[in-house]
Amino acid sequence: MSTHYSVTGRTAILRIDNPPVNGLGHATRKGIAQGLRRALDSTDVDAIVLTGREGSFSAGADISEFGTARTTAAPSLGDVIAALEDAGKPVVAAIDGTCLGGGLELALGAHYRVATSSSRIGLPEVHLGLVPGAGGTQRLPRVVGADVAADMISGGAPRTARELEDLPGQRLFDRLVDGDVIAAAMELAVEVAAVRPLPRVRDLSVGRDDTAAARATHERLRRRSRGFVAPAEALALVEKAGTTPFEEGLAEERKTFLELMNGEQSAALRHAFFAERAARKVPDVRPKTPARTVDKVAVIGAGTMGGGIAMTFLGAGILVTIVESSREALDRGLDAMRRNYQRQVERGKLTADGLEQRMALLTPTLDYADLSDSDLVIEAAFEDMDVKRSVFTRLDEVAKPGAILASNTSTLDIDAIAAVTGRPGDVLGMHFFSPANVMKLLEIVRGAKTSDDVLVTAMAVGQRIGKTGVVAGVCDGFIGNRMLARYRDAATALLHAGATPAAIDSAAEHFGFAMGPFRMADLAGNDIGWAIRKRRYAQDPGTPREEISDALCEMGRFGQKTGAGWYDYAPGGREAIPSPVVEELLASFHAEHGTKLRTFEADEIVQRLVFALVDEGARILDEGIALRASDIDVVYIAGYGFPRYRGGPMFYADTMGAAHVLSGLRRFHGDDGWEPSPLLMRLAAEGGTFN
Ligand code: NAI
Repeated sequence: MSTHYSVTGRTAILRIDNPPVNGLGHATRKGIAQGLRRALDSTDVDAIVLTGREGSFSAGADISEFGTARTTAAPSLGDVIAALEDAGKPVVAAIDGTCLGGGLELALGAHYRVATSSSRIGLPEVHLGLVPGAGGTQRLPRVVGADVAADMISGGAPRTARELEDLPGQRLFDRLVDGDVIAAAMELAVEVAAVRPLPRVRDLSVGRDDTAAARATHERLRRRSRGFVAPAEALALVEKAGTTPFEEGLAEERKTFLELMNGEQSAALRHAFFAERAARKVPDVRPKTPARTVDKVAVIGAGTMGGGIAMTFLGAGILVTIVESSREALDRGLDAMRRNYQRQVERGKLTADGLEQRMALLTPTLDYADLSDSDLVIEAAFEDMDVKRSVFTRLDEVAKPGAILASNTSTLDIDAIAAVTGRPGDVLGMHFFSPANVMKLLEIVRGAKTSDDVLVTAMAVGQRIGKTGVVAGVCDGFIGNRMLARYRDAATALLHAGATPAAIDSAAEHFGFAMGPFRMADLAGNDIGWAIRKRRYAQDPGTPREEISDALCEMGRFGQKTGAGWYDYAPGGREAIPSPVVEELLASFHAEHGTKLRTFEADEIVQRLVFALVDEGARILDEGIALRASDIDVVYIAGYGFPRYRGGPMFYADTMGAAHVLSGLRRFHGDDGWEPSPLLMRLAAEGGTFN
């Protein structure tokens, strides 16, 4: 039974009990409807309290039902809510913990609501590419006003009951308590037992705050959801709540909900959601493998990455020892962290006390002996094998037995690093992305000898510090950067064939990438790739030259930091302005090489970029570097700005069909010697999919 019915005095208590999150699957909906009917039919009952489990009123729809007949099987959530709202006896919702999505819609169908102040209230459907489908877009604006509702529904972020209670004119809660919510709801039920007519949310009018600030919020919401359909639909429905009769708004909401549910974006977003869950499991590791305890962390190197990594742990309240090789580098690193925190304080994201609390958890040192009590050490020193070897030799001497030794290397061989220690089972890669305190992705690189509990611990630590962890095998570039190299090559090939940086970036951004490849290169710094190329040219004179990129760097156009790169920038500015210098550079390259100039449609540009990712992803999958295609999708969404509403490169390839991807790649590569990945060829021949 996923609902329980009991009577105390003359009040019926209807309790939803469907662990873990009180999802409103078919059996639960039926249980609520039957319980309500029983209470209404009983002459011993005057009022009904509808509640959930401690910590969860209900987290909403049961998404594992999506796409099955059970989602639509009667009674629908809309039917249950209508029955509550039209009930002839008062219904009081008693809310504790999560009250999200369908759970909040259900509560809005009750006549009264009592909540604990810490309850989390929200309509997060946009994250799955949907709008609320059981009246949320029409009822929430009636109790919190159109503007707050627009923000909550189109942004999807939950708020605490306390925050909502403090809004002027809110009518969402009748009472807020810090203790026993059921007792408070029972009390209210007795008080209102004889009230008629019963208050219904649908009968309220929509308040709105037509101020410049509210309009700015809407504008921000619209901008933030570029390319993403559900948030814009949500805004339109909230508008409707204020301008059309309730029933009409409800019908419109239903129609939009069903369209979105059957659309591509929701399918992609649901894939992304399940992909992130799947990434937390490693098939060949015993499910209940215990993680090691991690209370104290040490970071080696206080540079760009070390500082960001340290901040990530400090933000989670974890003690960090940071080790540098010189006093100057240590001071520089600490200054950079403090300045970074200071900027957060200025932007109102951190309090001055918060800043000091974080810094107080940090122990800076020049002495490796100070990390002897650390449970996890993350090395972020220079990207040089000799440096890594000497650091890990030293770590092996000073770290306590059982400490986990991780490297943040982006390209070097974890097995070779592990081999210099007497404990290769304790070594693995923890590859963060820049800026490490902001970017969600964490590649957890499993060496040949990494023990299972070390892997499990690194994954658990990743979750604790709010990262999206994905397990990768050892190879140059792991999952993300190895694919990125192919993506960059495709961008360079387009440039050589006559497309402009602005055309390429605009196509990529229109597709939904956070930033096109050239704007991204200007942000990251063109000199980094140049240094790597120069090393390769020296090592192997046969390496093909990236003439245009090299020429750009020879002019000192390293990107935003030098005020010029693939684009021009106003002093200190970030806006990319197409550059006549680059135009000239391209023109002379094309003249010299006799490029047959042609125009590139945005579609072709996107396919060249994305199919390159897919081809390399297929190799990574085939070689077992990634455990599943969906892990690759997670890497690209969390770490590389791939539009989440397209599900990641491998999911996108599945929607296109492997044969289509393969024939596109063949066309784009012509006779340049490229061979398709064996897996892509197999799938194209069989009509199979990656995911
Ligand atoms: P960085 O040059 O900014 O910082 C390295 C720091 O390590 C310097 O402050 C240096 O003084 C210190 N250091 C060098 N040897 C040391 C030693 N033996 N003991 C203690 N400290 C030592 O370099 P960055 O960018 O922070 O990179 C660090 C590592 O992270 C590299 O392996 C890099 O490949 C990797 N990485 C870098 C990313 C990036 O975007 N910068 C992204 C992901 C990984």
